[in-house]
Amino acid sequence: MASDIPKAQIEAVDVTRSYRMDGVSVDALRGVSLTIEEGDYAAIIGPSGSGKSTLMHLLGCLDRPTSGTLLVRGRDVSSLDDSELAELRNQTIGFVFQSFQLLARTTALENVALPLVYRGVRRAERRKRAAEALEAVNLGHRLGHRPTQMSGGEQQRVAIARALVGEPAVLLADEPTGNLDTVNGDEVMGILERLNKERGVAVVLVTHEADIAARAQRIIRVRDGLIEEAPVSS
Ligand SMILES: Nc1ncnc2c1ncn2[C@@H]1O[C@H](COP(=O)(O)OP(=O)(O)OP(=O)(O)O)[C@@H](O)[C@H]1O
Ligand SMILES: [Mg+2]
Repeated sequence: MASDIPKAQIEAVDVTRSYRMDGVSVDALRGVSLTIEEGDYAAIIGPSGSGKSTLMHLLGCLDRPTSGTLLVRGRDVSSLDDSELAELRNQTIGFVFQSFQLLARTTALENVALPLVYRGVRRAERRKRAAEALEAVNLGHRLGHRPTQMSGGEQQRVAIARALVGEPAVLLADEPTGNLDTVNGDEVMGILERLNKERGVAVVLVTHEADIAARAQRIIRVRDGLIEEAPVSS
């Protein structure tokens, strides 16, 4: 590496997000600044409705801020059109949804291979990389299973494999253990932490569970559309 200074992968500067509903504006984020660096491991916590998912969607470029600046690898997303933004997102960020969002009639292998279609990767290579990503989440024995034939924990791991297959620098996970029991939740956390340690993937996760948040390097508290960041107390 050229430098030991951590590089910002995603930088939000005073971003807001308002939703308009029936002529009324809901200010879900009211001015948030946050930097996600290479190799980061951050937990986002806060009450229901405080703006955590809204923030994750902005960081993941699934949505655009109402005001403020969002930089991904130093590029201002407001200067990019939708296809340029999709490409930058595809190269930088993997997103794990709380509800998995897998294709029900499609095998684990095909679900995981799908993001590579948009990158123009050939079929044989897609299948090889998808199998590797599934092996990385301990699902090498379930390549041909469909989501309905898998447990909740297995489906969540397929969703992580799909987020990983493009080798993102940042993995954003919105309540990755929210639907899992303790054993499956621990396995998912172990996988995310291994990716962070061994591959240097920056991991940002939302959680309601204090013990899960306490495992992160830092905790970002969201309250009423604003953040207060605090170091993890030991
Ligand atoms: N598409 C939308 N249209 C209108 N209002 C929305 C929309 N999405 C979210 N909101 C509102 O914005 C606020 C923040 O929502 P958000 O989903 O970010 O909360 P959250 O912190 O993720 O909550 P939870 O812990 O329950 O998942 C809430 O008041 C919510 O009702
Ligand atoms: Mg949420």
